[in-house]
Amino acid sequence: MRIVSFVGQKGGIGKSTLARVLAVAAARQQYKVMIGDFDLQQLTCVEWSAMRMRNGIEPEIDARAFKSLKKLRSTIVGYDLVVVDTRGLADSLTEEVSQESDVVFLPTGTSMDDLRPTLALARKLSTNRSVGKKIVVVLSKTGRSDRLIEQAESTIFDAGFDMLNAVWPERDGFQSDLDLGRAGSESSNPHLKMASQKVEQAMLTLAMN
Ligand SMILES: Nc1ncnc2c1ncn2[C@@H]1O[C@H](COP(=O)(O)OP(=O)(O)OP(=O)(O)O)[C@@H](O)[C@H]1O
Ligand SMILES: [Mg+2]
Repeated sequence: MRIVSFVGQKGGIGKSTLARVLAVAAARQQYKVMIGDFDLQQLTCVEWSAMRMRNGIEPEIDARAFKSLKKLRSTIVGYDLVVVDTRGLADSLTEEVSQESDVVFLPTGTSMDDLRPTLALARKLSTNRSVGKKIVVVLSKTGRSDRLIEQAESTIFDAGFDMLNAVWPERDGFQSDLDLGRAGSESSNPHLKMASQKVEQAMLTLAMN
C-alpha cells in the first residue's frame, strides 16, 4: 500500500484538486484508492466524492475525513493507494503526514510569492532527510507564459528539489468538472483531458513505483 500526500504553505493552490485528479487516475487503472481528507473545515474531497456519487459518476472514489494519522493507519488496510489531502497552512500534522508518505507533493504557483513559502516548507520538511527525498514540487494553476514556467522550474532546480515533469495548467473548465464530481481526465473538453492525462500519468508513475 502506498501513501501519497499533498501539502503546502499556501491556500488555494490545487492540493485538493490534484489529490482528486490522482485518485481518479489510480481508480481508472483498477487500483483500490481512498482519499484521506484532513481538511476538516472544508472537506473538499469528501463533498466532491458525495457529489460524484449523486451524479452517478464511476468509478466511485472513497473519501473519508480524518483527524489523526493514527485513525488513518487503522482504516486503510486493503487499499493500494491512499491519497492524503491536507489543510491550507502547514502545521504539525503536515510533518507527520509527510513522514508517513511515500511521495509528498507540494503544489505551487510560478510566482516568487508562491515559490518562496513553498520552498521554505520544502526545506523545513527536508530537515528530516528521509522526507526530503520524497518531496516533489508541482507547478500548479500555471498561466500561459512558458517563460514564467521555465523561470519557476529553474528556481526549484536551484533550490535542489525534484519537480513533477508535467504542469497543471489553470483553465476555467476544470472548475465546472470539479463542481459536477469529475476530475482530470474525466473532463468533457478534449484539451483539458489531454492536459490532465500528462499530469495524471506523471503523478501516478511516482505514486505507484
Ligand atoms: N487547473 C485549474 N484551473 C482552474 N481552477 C482550478 C484549477 N485547479 C484548481 N482550481 C480551482 O482553484 C481553487 C483552489 O483549488 P484547491 O481547492 O484544489 O486548492 P487547495 O490548495 O486545496 O486549497 P485549500 O488550501 O483551501 O485547501 C478551487 O476553486 C478549484 O476549483
Ligand atoms: Mg484543499
